Amino acid sequence: MEVIIRPDATAATQLTAAIIANQVRAKPSSVIGLATGATMERVYAELVRLHREAGLDFSLVRSFNLDEYEGLSPEDPHSYRHYMNEKLFNHINIDIRNTHLPHGQAPDLKAECQRYEELILACGGIDMQLLGIGRSGHIGFNEPLSALQSRTRDKALTPTTLAQNASYFPTPDAMPKRGITMGVGTILEARNIALLVTGSAKASVIAKAVEGPVTSMISASALQLHPNCQIIVDEDAASELTQQAYYHWIFENEDDWKPYRG
Ligand code: PGA
Repeated sequence: MEVIIRPDATAATQLTAAIIANQVRAKPSSVIGLATGATMERVYAELVRLHREAGLDFSLVRSFNLDEYEGLSPEDPHSYRHYMNEKLFNHINIDIRNTHLPHGQAPDLKAECQRYEELILACGGIDMQLLGIGRSGHIGFNEPLSALQSRTRDKALTPTTLAQNASYFPTPDAMPKRGITMGVGTILEARNIALLVTGSAKASVIAKAVEGPVTSMISASALQLHPNCQIIVDEDAASELTQQAYYHWIFENEDDWKPYRG
């Protein structure tokens, strides 16, 4: 695991988008794992800009999102399918048939979760997984106590997550209480992982995930087990990390980060 600290949310977002862009340039048929949420909106805006202004080509890319709300149709404006179409897919040259999310209204949830796992495998697995972290410490909808070897399944959302996302819905009752999510084990099989965290509200949870013990109480802590995982934080989100000087040194000195230093 490497932690990279950038001065502000804009710089952290641009670095994350640049990592995705380099993955797509290096392997145009990359399988990319995608995330939703407020943090990701800025990453997608930057990827759209790179497509328009720098010709970043998504024509062969295939994508798998982490999760979807249970019970919402793809057309529902609160569904993650709708979010992805609006924030990214409608503005780049990806083939929409190559974009995948779990079906929130699948009649047989177990079969749907199995289908999703098999489709990821059939596409050769995920080359690069983009992640955010929730206030509950979740990645995807892997709420506290998610097994670290869990696979795609349906999961009850915690009060913390319900509170975090309630403002997107007209009333708290309108918000689904369950989601379908890739498991922690599914996520850990991605060949590369980039997790972006910005803002002081996430400082405590990212410090626990990165520098605390591996625990199913903070599912993002399982990323400590992954050999190719980058955690990109802005100064605000980094404020509770104890090894900040070392993390700064990594970005300034390691050859892998040279192309990104500008
Ligand atoms: P946020 O969500 O970017 O809206 O904070 C992140 C998450 O819950 O994973």
